[in-house]
Amino acid sequence: MSTFTATSFDRYKEQGTRIVMCTAYDASQARLVQAAGIDAILVGDSLGNTMLGYNSTVPVTMDDMVRATAAVSRGAADTFIVADMPFMSYQASFEDGMYNAGRLLKEGGAAAVKLEGSSRAALELCEGLVAAGVPVIGHLGLTPQSVNALGGYKTQGKDAGAAAELMMGALALSEIGAVAIVLECIPAELARAVTDRIDCATIGIGAGPFCDGEIQVFHDLCGLGGDFTPRHARHFCEGGQVITEGLSEYAAAVRAGRFPTEQQTVHVDKAIVENAAAFLDKLIDEAEDDEDELV
Ligand code: KIV
Repeated sequence: MSTFTATSFDRYKEQGTRIVMCTAYDASQARLVQAAGIDAILVGDSLGNTMLGYNSTVPVTMDDMVRATAAVSRGAADTFIVADMPFMSYQASFEDGMYNAGRLLKEGGAAAVKLEGSSRAALELCEGLVAAGVPVIGHLGLTPQSVNALGGYKTQGKDAGAAAELMMGALALSEIGAVAIVLECIPAELARAVTDRIDCATIGIGAGPFCDGEIQVFHDLCGLGGDFTPRHARHFCEGGQVITEGLSEYAAAVRAGRFPTEQQTVHVDKAIVENAAAFLDKLIDEAEDDEDELV
């Protein structure tokens, strides 16, 4: 049983113990992640890409997130679960944000929420949630919900202005009380400078080795993402290949009559089937007689 909780982020940072997170989007993936002893699961809105076949996270809805979070909570009941606030779930109003975060905890069973950016809306919501006792994780750098404004999935914080802006955002989130901040696709030197200057833990993805922890997408770690692997990821197993080979063997076995076998088969007394068949034959005969009478 995992003992990782919202307060562990600070403790791990202080102790220099690296925090390990990865995403999961359903109960079966969550069971695997929990069995591997990963500290915390993010139900990322990357489920739009990995599970729903969209080419961005923008179309993901609150209902998508609540359903996936509830499934992950059932599959990994002993793991700390963070759920993403999807695009436009808090940008229109503070009240929307509080209500939608509440849904992720009350209906989804999440223990914390993550929100992208350091806009005024993001900072106000973070403050409101912290005051309401909801642990919040920030997300800076490449924030995929803003892909249209960023002009694509590019490394962020490469010039002095952008680096300073990111540092100020990180400091603001940390001071407001975020338990951690995901730093996505920024130079390692910038991630290190942020990590050294803020109180809360940093969790990197494409941000080099100097963050307090690391997060990766389940499909990227397990080789389930098709031909594309982001530069910042690595397949730690070839799950896609293993699964395709297994399914091909299944198809071949069915076609060749090698599956199912006696092992997958149940039997019943012959007389039971004969009685049922006789009853059915009688019904068919009666129906045919009725049809003849109508002609
Ligand atoms: O949605 C997601 O999976 C994320 C991670 C990439 C951090 O936000």
